[in-house]
Amino acid sequence: MASTSTWYKIAASISEISFNANGLAEIDINGKTVCIAKNNDQIFACTQKCPHAGALLSTGHIDALGNLVCPLHKYKFSLKNGRNISGEGYYLKTFAIEEREGGVFICVEGPAF
Ligand code: FES
Repeated sequence: MASTSTWYKIAASISEISFNANGLAEIDINGKTVCIAKNNDQIFACTQKCPHAGALLSTGHIDALGNLVCPLHKYKFSLKNGRNISGEGYYLKTFAIEEREGGVFICVEGPAF
């Protein structure tokens, strides 16, 4: 089956997203929860569940280098491309996200959505 991608509007503006003190938020899209991260005025999106053992990444934090740190075993992932910076060999699925005229949009694809 061909995979399709769809842009979903998740907020009218970045300031409408309720980030926690660590710059992380969770957003529901079609019944799936996605983690949104804000770091140095840039926003990123990835799956909410850690690819290692499923911890909720929006309850983690962002380190000084801009990597998302899982709350459970502290594996680190690049918010830009999902690379497992700490080297355990996992891959975090990231999604395109952008603010443009009319709101903040996230691009998700495939049967999961
Ligand atoms: S569940 Fe995220 S590092 Fe283990």
